[in-house]
Amino acid sequence: MTDNWLKNGQILYQHDLSNSVTFIKISRQAHLNALNKEVINSLEEVLSLIHEDTRIRSVIITGDGEKAFVAGADIKEFQAFNKLQGQELSYIGKQKLFNKIANFTKPIIAAINGYALGGGLELALSCHIRVASTGATLGLPECKLGLIPGYGGTQRLPKIVGMGHAMEMILTSKMINAKEAYRIGLVNYNVEPEELIEKCLSIVKLINKTSPDSSKAAISSINSSFLSEGDGIETEEFSKLFDTSNFKEGVEAFLEKRRANFNK
Ligand code: CAA
Repeated sequence: MTDNWLKNGQILYQHDLSNSVTFIKISRQAHLNALNKEVINSLEEVLSLIHEDTRIRSVIITGDGEKAFVAGADIKEFQAFNKLQGQELSYIGKQKLFNKIANFTKPIIAAINGYALGGGLELALSCHIRVASTGATLGLPECKLGLIPGYGGTQRLPKIVGMGHAMEMILTSKMINAKEAYRIGLVNYNVEPEELIEKCLSIVKLINKTSPDSSKAAISSINSSFLSEGDGIETEEFSKLFDTSNFKEGVEAFLEKRRANFNK
């Protein structure tokens, strides 16, 4: 990576034509790179550009700064949402970004450099390959906010790590380190922070020796074995929670930096 980044909103990107790869950085550091509407739209636009660019074989997505990959969907943006708005948030986010990444015809690698939480981990789960640095922290803490994952986490996590680990991670909201994420198969590699991009590039270089038609066909074929109706059920269950008092309490507690006091 050089220092010459192109910018689209809060997305930075650069093409490395010698390796046929585009690096993308989500750059909203003051909010730990949380995904608001603008970030989702900008990321989708950059991916559309890459899709048309025949010079590019693969993509590496990471977070700007040392602290976070992405700390989730933007809690402040959805704090006052009702059921319908919650449904739109999940549905549009999936259509625009998360399913687009999963079905992208060029391999996408998540370089997880710090917190990958909630929608941030769901973003990494949508990618085809995940590499984490030793300082990364991963989790789906939505149940602590009175929600559930709404960007495909309830569907993709169990397929990647198995139902037992997925149930535990989601039901407890616990966060795990990169070593544990590697142990349960959530990430393919766990490397020192200074080796993160190099490791991703080594994967890119192997991909470059294969046929782009084969990448496209393999992604489509592998994904087809995971098609399920659960995606719609997740959006439905996610959105219903927006009308509960426990959601309001969960979000208020996060914003007031205190522990939530949920109704039993
Ligand atoms: N949305 C909005 N703002 C966020 C955010 C998020 N997901 N995560 C962090 N921030 C903001 C904080 O509010 C804080 O802003 P202020 O300085 O204005 O207070 C700033 O980023 C720095 O965060 P902290 O002060 O909390 O930093 P910390 O080091 O003490 O803690 C953390 C780091 C453990 C990651 C903590 O920020 C945290 O728990 N973040 C929320 C994680 C989360 O719950 N993610 C799931 C979101 S819901 C979701 O993603 C729904 C879905 O599936 C669609």
